[in-house]
Amino acid sequence: MNNEIKEVEPLAQPISVFESDVTEGLTASPKFLKSKYFYDKTGDKLFQQIMELREYYLTNCELEILNSHKEHIAAYFKGSQEPFQLVDLGAGNAYKTKILLQHFIKKNVNFEYVPVDISENAIEKLTFDLKKHFPKIQISGYSKEYLDALRLIKNETPKLILFLGASIGNFSRTEAEDFFKQISRQMNAEDLLCIGFDLKKDTQIILDAYNDARGITKKFNLNLLTKINREFNADFKTDTFEHVPSYDPHSGEARSALRSKFNQKIAIQKLGVVIELKEGELIHTEISKKYALSEIKSLAENSGFQIVENLFDKHHYFTNSVWRKN
Ligand SMILES: C[S@@+](CC[C@H](N)C(=O)[O-])C[C@H]1O[C@@H](n2cnc3c(N)ncnc32)[C@H](O)[C@@H]1O
Repeated sequence: MNNEIKEVEPLAQPISVFESDVTEGLTASPKFLKSKYFYDKTGDKLFQQIMELREYYLTNCELEILNSHKEHIAAYFKGSQEPFQLVDLGAGNAYKTKILLQHFIKKNVNFEYVPVDISENAIEKLTFDLKKHFPKIQISGYSKEYLDALRLIKNETPKLILFLGASIGNFSRTEAEDFFKQISRQMNAEDLLCIGFDLKKDTQIILDAYNDARGITKKFNLNLLTKINREFNADFKTDTFEHVPSYDPHSGEARSALRSKFNQKIAIQKLGVVIELKEGELIHTEISKKYALSEIKSLAENSGFQIVENLFDKHHYFTNSVWRKN
């Protein structure tokens, strides 16, 4: 399959971070692509469809938690004279955050909403949508990486920083600790951080969440190859790859990968590389780590935080863990 000799021009220009990440990942062994690159116009849309899937229990769990604790969350900043900032890291379409926004607006809570997302498309659409539905909302969106945006947000105002959707699961344990240490440098003593963690549970429930019957998660994964084709003039044929989800109950890592159905060579013209894939070889695309409560506690402590409280859904599938800096 596709074994003709491939040629590419060597690179003449310095390259962007996306370009060097793709080159590094696809020439590594085992091959990988970073999950933050899933999100473009199509990726944003597919992720919204994933959130609505019956199998993707995470959305309903977090919706339930935010709905049942919205008054309690609003009360954290009740006495504050100045408007506090509701910073939403990886806001997406803010489907769940809207529960808080609606409640805060209804209760005349004095706040500014600060969504952050690497996807420019997500921030543009969200700002337009919120201004239309909540004309009085104060909103300042950042289409930037999480930490780059946090460094730009003014530090004097009290903040509630949201990191929802179990996005922390995409980080390894060491990356998570390093990430929270860096967040803590941008926080003051009265600020709070509210993180959505997906908890360890029955293996089949987790596997189904990343292998839905309608194949939306598969499309979401394959879109990464389509994006590389479009942006780097590559010739990935998406129908020569299978979507492979797996879960290790011990480490709590749910992984997604794309498996090459054949021996094949892919030319990525703009990067000046040809990559070779063996039949059955995997390109790892995502880790979604599931946590035990003891792991959340040690992660908080090792990154300089204390847990204020853990909020749960009725099945205890998910927790929103609220942290304060030590
Ligand atoms: C799993 S979705 C969660 C969306 C939303 N918070 C929710 O809970 O439904 C992750 C979001 O984070 C954004 N994202 C991923 N990596 C990012 C990064 N490094 N910096 C900023 N945003 C990022 C994506 O574009 C996407 O909208």
